[in-house]
Amino acid sequence: MTHSSVPAPSPDQETLFAAAAADYARYRPGVPEAAVRLLADTLRGRADPVLLDLGTGTGQVPLALRHAVPDLAHIEAVDVSRQMLDRARAALAPVLGRCTLTLVHATADEYQPPAPQPGEAVLRPALVTCCRSYHWMPGPAVLDMADRVTAPDAAVAIMGDGSLWTHQAEWTRALREVIQAYLGSERRAGTRTTYTEPRRSYQEDLAASAFTEVSEHRYPVARTWTPAAVVGYLRSTSFAHPDLFQERHEAFEAEAHHLLDTYAKDGTLQEEAVFTVLLARRPKAAS
Ligand SMILES: C[S@@+](CC[C@H](N)C(=O)[O-])C[C@H]1O[C@@H](n2cnc3c(N)ncnc32)[C@H](O)[C@@H]1O
Repeated sequence: MTHSSVPAPSPDQETLFAAAAADYARYRPGVPEAAVRLLADTLRGRADPVLLDLGTGTGQVPLALRHAVPDLAHIEAVDVSRQMLDRARAALAPVLGRCTLTLVHATADEYQPPAPQPGEAVLRPALVTCCRSYHWMPGPAVLDMADRVTAPDAAVAIMGDGSLWTHQAEWTRALREVIQAYLGSERRAGTRTTYTEPRRSYQEDLAASAFTEVSEHRYPVARTWTPAAVVGYLRSTSFAHPDLFQERHEAFEAEAHHLLDTYAKDGTLQEEAVFTVLLARRPKAAS
């Protein structure tokens, strides 16, 4: 089921992620189990809980929560990329059971709940999730939207674990240098733009929003990569997507693969990441 009562994203917003959808589905790591449990706990004991997932990508968060919350009643999955939404639908359809799913092709800040059918109540999400996606969005406007649409005691989770661009290991530093040798020193964010750090921290955004009761949860995750999986992962990113390299992409991949082979031990590379969840609610008196 899809609904489109909101303005469609601009073509620029769409193309950045569209081409990456297949590689994203194949190579991106999932959400750590401990983080999934934390999110599931926010829904425990609620009747017919609704999840609103912003920047759903291939549906990793709803997929994990569908398994962890057997009573989950409905999922609203929002993304600017139709290709990502198609992947999310394919991943979620087989596991939905009685849970219903709506795919919303929109920018997160412009999301609106579907108009209720006669006799039905307005949908009020109990949990809003933004996983590895908040930095792409106009944060304050997204939090205002969340304030408008959610249940009074809803939780908002902003979470993620950085990327192989930000990771500080010898092999990721060397890899970053190869990317920079091809694309220039600035981190790219698609074919037209470079990445700019958010002006305010996520905590500052939350402090200025309705969701000021914030707790931070950090989960160390150790990942083992093969050189081929890293090269595949890079294709799914905005900083090393094939389009950025144009006719030099093949040469880049060969060089990156060779470099990763030299750093690999027993054919593998280790990443020690931290997956961080900022879990925010309205103050008790306000909810
Ligand atoms: C890095 S992916 C994360 C996907 C997923 N949440 C995960 O953790 O695997 C970022 C996603 O956010 C989507 N996105 C980017 N800007 C957006 C916006 N303003 N509104 C909604 N979705 C957006 C992209 O299309 C992409 O699917």
